[in-house]
Amino acid sequence: MRQPRHRKKFKNVYDDLSKPYIGSAEPECPHFGHCGGCAFQDIRYDLQLEMKKKYLLSLFAGNERIVPCIESLEVKGSSPYEYRNRMDFVCAFGKRGLRERGRYREVVDIADCRLMNGRMNMIWKQARSASEQVEDYNYLDHTGFLRYIVIRGAGITGETMVNCVLSREGNEIEPVLRSITPLVESMSLIIHDGLADLSGGRILEDVKRGYIEETFDGITYRITPNSFFQSNSLCARDIYRRIAQEARGRTLDLFSGVGSISLFVAKHVDSIIGVELIEEAVASARDSAARNGIDNATFISADALAYMRENHGIYDTLILDPPRTGAHPKVMKMISECAPERIIYMSCNPSTFRENIALLTGYRLISFEAFDMFPQTPHMETLAVFERSS
Ligand SMILES: C[S@@+](CC[C@H](N)C(=O)[O-])C[C@H]1O[C@@H](n2cnc3c(N)ncnc32)[C@H](O)[C@@H]1O
Repeated sequence: MRQPRHRKKFKNVYDDLSKPYIGSAEPECPHFGHCGGCAFQDIRYDLQLEMKKKYLLSLFAGNERIVPCIESLEVKGSSPYEYRNRMDFVCAFGKRGLRERGRYREVVDIADCRLMNGRMNMIWKQARSASEQVEDYNYLDHTGFLRYIVIRGAGITGETMVNCVLSREGNEIEPVLRSITPLVESMSLIIHDGLADLSGGRILEDVKRGYIEETFDGITYRITPNSFFQSNSLCARDIYRRIAQEARGRTLDLFSGVGSISLFVAKHVDSIIGVELIEEAVASARDSAARNGIDNATFISADALAYMRENHGIYDTLILDPPRTGAHPKVMKMISECAPERIIYMSCNPSTFRENIALLTGYRLISFEAFDMFPQTPHMETLAVFERSS
């Protein structure tokens, strides 16, 4: 049978694994199969979890440190729908939605996305309709005005932010501002005038507030338009609770974003330093530390590699949560040289995690867990704890 287009992208990873399960669930979204957002809506959720475990087993086959941990592992599930904190809707070719699966040049018009909660969907419907009066942006020939409408939510507080990404300044965005600003906690205009297809950029104006707040176990985070925050709040909070159980002493948090892990674990450790590239995220981490009355956390704006090169400090625990591309191999080498007692590695990409940990020397794995941060998609989050063995 010919593979539907939406599966081809994951050919080497999930194709064989998914075959027995396809058709075990009825997709909830009419765009399933065309839209690039979901891959597994036609697979029952418990079977998606089983498939993710099998994927991990195949990825780590032969790795004696990890396989025994995976065999006894249950990939922890989360809410299969309505979990996503962020959607980047592209505005192009008279459409407002997401890219077609495997087709960068095509956009699927999306009126409602089952991965977002009801409030975000209500706001999207209004924004989408108001934006029809606004010229969109052709990202193939680089002409036009409105590039993206980004909707971000805080899964626990329910606060919602909308960011309009424009190719230049201009009043034409007024219909969207008039219709949406009263409905949201935060609204910002962002300029991105480059050729790269980005949904972030220079903040032109915070039309309303310029941040939303999320709360995990009494810690309140400030999320600004360009800063990263985990896509699934309930799942992220579960992982942070586990990290807090494992972290101790003098702690370094590499790739710290808006400080979400650092601030969460601060009361469990002696001191914590967060290192993050994006200054806007570091500023909001410092701000959140002050507002939460946390005085043992320090945030530094730096490249992780440059920081490790210059600061071979002594740490009891090193936490790292790099982007999907993983940590630079030299960062892994320096972590081994720096020799913290414990390394806690949170990863959203098992494949780069595997490459990274092959570079760690002098450590043994003491626990490995997997969390389904991204139901209906091939992605997941893993958490590994290593202890120094030599
Ligand atoms: C997966 S996010 C983790 C953020 C944070 N730990 C959290 O849980 O919200 C990865 C972060 O690494 C940052 N980053 C990417 N490359 C970096 C680098 N070379 N040095 C430092 N930070 C970097 C990104 O800006 C992003 O905030």
